[in-house]
Parts: sequence; structure tokens; C-alpha cells
Amino acid sequence: MKILAIETSCDETSISFLECSRGFKKTNFKILSNVVLSQIDIHKSFGGVVPSLARREHQKNLVPILTKVLEESGLLKLKITVKNLKLLNKILARETELLEKTLDFLDKYEKPKINLIAVTRGPGLEPALWVGINFARVLSKAWEIPLIGINHLEGHVFSVLLSQNREEKSKRIQNSKSKIQNKILKIQFPALALIVSGGHTELILMEDWLKYKIVGSTLDDAAGEAFDKAARILELGYPGGPEISREAEKWKIQIIDKHRKSGFLLPRPMLNSKDFNFSFSGLKTAVLYLTQNLKKSGNWSENLIPQIAHEFQEAVIEVLVKKSLKAAEKYNIKTFILCGGVSANKELRYRLCDSLCKKYGKNFNFLMPEIEFSGDNAAMIAVAAYSNYLNLKVKGKSLKIAPFLKADGNLNFKINF
Ligand code: KG4
Ligand code: ZN
Repeated sequence: MKILAIETSCDETSISFLECSRGFKKTNFKILSNVVLSQIDIHKSFGGVVPSLARREHQKNLVPILTKVLEESGLLKLKITVKNLKLLNKILARETELLEKTLDFLDKYEKPKINLIAVTRGPGLEPALWVGINFARVLSKAWEIPLIGINHLEGHVFSVLLSQNREEKSKRIQNSKSKIQNKILKIQFPALALIVSGGHTELILMEDWLKYKIVGSTLDDAAGEAFDKAARILELGYPGGPEISREAEKWKIQIIDKHRKSGFLLPRPMLNSKDFNFSFSGLKTAVLYLTQNLKKSGNWSENLIPQIAHEFQEAVIEVLVKKSLKAAEKYNIKTFILCGGVSANKELRYRLCDSLCKKYGKNFNFLMPEIEFSGDNAAMIAVAAYSNYLNLKVKGKSLKIAPFLKADGNLNFKINF
């Protein structure tokens, strides 16, 4: 089946077109087109994502991206007249710029051969989510194709099943039109997923496909948020994760080459707590006090940034690894999934994989997304949509054309099912 997926939960506008086949166990995903347009350059100077700007950019970019995706997939054909104009106007009444572009597009091109449209409905920034949802509803209505709303976090979990043509080069507009057949990696249950992103840090137990139980989450800041805030304190750029890890790497080289040791010690919040919850807000505050004190006492130097970044990253990784190992043991898991934007962190990938594999040996599956699919993208939304579609089909339920979907900034895992 052919799925068109739309993702606008934060500062990436992304549309993907995937061909999915063969059901749950031997699923094949063929990525026909996956376009991710990052708004980082626009939000950078504000030190974080500005929801109203994200909303404006999504409005500007959705139609050009859709055109590109359909063109790459060989589905862009000149056309017929638009039906249901009144209703389309109503759905996109608040996104006037997008409405105009969408109507022009629909007026020009024929209905493509798509079986299902998927869109992220939460969690994320509501002004940004609404743009994607209303756009998806309009396409669903105009083309009379069923629409499914997807949980963004579930998309991250399913991102580990995607793989991409290695020859494709990533550009600012990452554009991948490989026609590679992608084989699903076998997920054996029970599985445990550690989702680490800008808004979430969750340990999710999966007893089967689409059966989730949250066993741990952050009590305050998410891991990615802590990276971003620590980076801001150290006057590094946005997003902070890649900046901190780059600085940390500089100190790691010094440790290896010159046997140097950091003189700074930051807290490992909740490292030994009995539950599987996290807390990163205090760690960020510790970075703030440390830099303030160094500055006040005249001991500050920019040369200290790699050391502090390294110590900060160590603290986050130690907590994530220890809690993951403990939860893996308690639930006797067969597969571990690391996903979300922070899963791009090389040190975290290595340390988590190393610790789990050392403990559980070869019969244990460690899955993480290819770096290209670790951040927000619509391909992961399409994969999650396919699984949800199969699940509904088994239950004899069918999907509707342009159902009312409400953007939910705090959408919970449980509410989706
Ligand atoms: O999943 P994502 O792309 O968006 C959300 O759903 O939030 O995650 C974005 C987060 C940001 O906080 C960013 O700083 C972090 O992922 N991130 C990283 C790295 N690359 C991105 N954190 C640590 N190390 C990285 N290499
Ligand atoms: Zn995300």
C-alpha cells in the first residue's frame, strides 16, 4: 500500500511517500521520496523554536515539498477540477497562505495513486501541528483518500525500521529518492524503547506491536531540552545536542591523548532512584552555577567549554544507560530500541549498545535509527501509520476521509490506542 505522510510537529517540515507491503512480520518499506526541510536557520537566532514562526514556515513549505515528493515518486500529473471547494476553504480557513497554495496545487495536478494519508497529531507544538493536520485533511477530502492521525513518539519508535540508500548525500533539504527495498528488522517482544528527544525522555515497554506501557519518564526537562539549555548557558549554538557532543569530543581526545581528567563533577540526577524516571533540570542548573562561579572568580576561559560539555554529556549518558539496563533486566526484554533526536548522539549510541550487548550477548537485538532518521521526519510517520492501519484492519475497523483530528501538544501514548 502507498502511504503519504506529513510531519510538522516542531521545526522540520517533512513529507514522505512510502510503499509498504507484506504485513506485520515481513514488512517491506520502500521509500520513494522523503523530504525534510529544516527551519533551524530561522529559529537559531532566538535560541529555540518559535511556534508562530514554525507555523508560518510550515504554511510556506508544505505545498512545494508535496509537489517535489509527488514528482520524485512519478505521481505528479496535470489535471481536473477541484471538488468540495467550500469545505476545503473551511478546513484551511485559518491557514490562508497555505489554502491559496493548496487550491492552486489541487487545481493543477491530478489525484495521485495513494492509499492512505498519515499525519502527526501530537505531541509537539500545537500551532505547528495544526498546519500539518489541516493540510492533510484538505488533501484527504479533495482526493477522497482515508486519513490517519499518528503519535509523533510512535513514529520515533518505528524509525528504527527504516533504512536509506547510503549514496544519497544529505543536503539542507535532505532529499532521498532511493528505490531500495527495505527489509524490516525483526523486533522480538518484549521490547523496551528509550525515546530521547527535545520534548520527551520515556522508557516504553512494548509487549507486542502497538502495545505500549510507559515504565519511566522525565519528571522535568527532557534529555534533548537539557542539551539545548546547557548549550545556551555555554553560549553554543542551537540545537544544542550536536554542539555539546562536538565540544565533548574535543575533551575526549584530550583524555585519550594526554591522559587528562576533568576537574569538574556534575550531578547524576536520580541515578540510584528505585524507579525508571529521570530528571535533568537540576543538571542544567548545575552547569549554570558552575559557569557563573567560574566567571565570578575570574577563572573562566572558553577553553573550559569542552571539559564542561563532556562532563555534562557523561552525566546524561550515565543516567540513561543505568536506567535502561535496570529496566531491561526487570522486564526481561529481547529487543532494545533507542530513538528520538538525541539518539543521534554517537557516544550515547555506543555506550548503550556496548553495555546492553555485554550484558545480554548476541541473542539480544539492539535497534537504533540510522542518523538520517533519528530527527523528525515523515518517513517514520508513514511506517507507524502502516502498522496502525494493519492493526485496525485486523479489528475490522476502517478509516475515514478527512476525519476531524485535533492537534494535541501533549498527546499521550495511551490515548492513541
Ligand atoms: O526528535 P527531535 O528531532 O525533535 C523532537 O521531537 O523534540 O529531537 C530534537 C532534540 C534536540 O533537543 C537536539 O538538541 C537533540 O535532539 N539532538 C541531540 C543530538 N542531535 C540532536 N542531542 C544530543 N546529541 C546529538 N548529537
Ligand atoms: Zn521528534
